[in-house]
Amino acid sequence: MILNTIRECDFSNKKALVRVDFNVPLKDGVVTDDTRIEAALPTIQYLLDKGAAVVVMSHFGRPKGKKNPEFSMAPIAKRFSELLGKQVILANDVIGPEVEAQVKALKKGEVLLLENVRFYAEEEANDPEFAKKLASFGDVYVNDAFGTAHRAHASTEGVAHYLPSYAGFLIEKEVKFMAPLLENPDKPFVAIIGGSKVSSKISVLESLVRTCDTIVIGGGMAYTFLAVQGHAIGKSLVEEEYKDVAASFLAKAKEKNVQVILPVDHLCGAEFKEDTAVVAVDDVNIPENLIGMDIGPKTIDLIVKAVAKAKSVVWNGPMGVFEFDAFAQGTLTVAKALADSNATTVVGGGDSVAAINKFHLADKISHVSTGGGASLEFLEGKVLPGIKALEK
Ligand code: 3PG
Repeated sequence: MILNTIRECDFSNKKALVRVDFNVPLKDGVVTDDTRIEAALPTIQYLLDKGAAVVVMSHFGRPKGKKNPEFSMAPIAKRFSELLGKQVILANDVIGPEVEAQVKALKKGEVLLLENVRFYAEEEANDPEFAKKLASFGDVYVNDAFGTAHRAHASTEGVAHYLPSYAGFLIEKEVKFMAPLLENPDKPFVAIIGGSKVSSKISVLESLVRTCDTIVIGGGMAYTFLAVQGHAIGKSLVEEEYKDVAASFLAKAKEKNVQVILPVDHLCGAEFKEDTAVVAVDDVNIPENLIGMDIGPKTIDLIVKAVAKAKSVVWNGPMGVFEFDAFAQGTLTVAKALADSNATTVVGGGDSVAAINKFHLADKISHVSTGGGASLEFLEGKVLPGIKALEK
């Protein structure tokens, strides 16, 4: 996958229309995690340094095609301006005569942020007329919204049909770290996949089994796999309708000589609640009155040893109910094992990234993806429309 990147364009005296993913968490009107804003700054700064006037656009939340002040970009504009260290002008709309005038008046070195692109239903409908209006705001289009690259929307895909289009540094970096995992990873390659449901992770397992040497399956979905192997899983989560899929995945892994690590011991509780008493089960089988809620120490040891031998590791999804402190140990240890490893380490997906951040380990990971759904779909081997539009 070879992308056109911003290195290949002369931006002097040009208007750059830049799509970013500033869909960030807010609490009481304040940005609580600015990772995605930080991640877009190198591109914005580069464009400014190269003499461009920069028109930035993003969505925030899901306002369903209606103008709704609750989903205004205003708090995000404030944080963006603080981090960029310069004034960011916030347009009071996405399109329309007033915005057109603001774009026209924008000088080189200035930044204008449009209102939430999802205030218009045409955005998610990828309406060509709406895309053309957005495209009229720039001489060139730059996409750095990796987190939204799995959506074929007007601002992520549609505009690319009307302007010369380039990938920003963030998209370039995400692809640089993730594409080799699907093609030619440094070996041994260990994939650690967790989360509660087989249904949402089976595609990524089936994609990674083609290139990995070891695959770790943890989290709630592990119990469906244990059940198909004939183990007792107590009252743990099970997706009956995915048992066949899980069984054929295990058969495929065996056929390909891929080692599958499933939990061999557990931390359990009698009830799925934070203050349930922790019961350590030193066996693969779980007694009938208990729910598996985290991996046990023997399983942790297996994972740590596999990671220590790896040259590349990808992790997506928690190993247990890590939002409950008593059941966070498995996820924490995986996070630490990646942080201690000399391998190329890639972490994607909302919950595992949250775990990395909770334990302040982000700077010890080779690449923490800014995409939730986008990184999962990328690892599933799907074509992301926002990235396809930037291919040479
Ligand atoms: C995300 O946070 O995953 C992206 O910004 C995409 O948001 P969406 O799921 O509302 O399209």
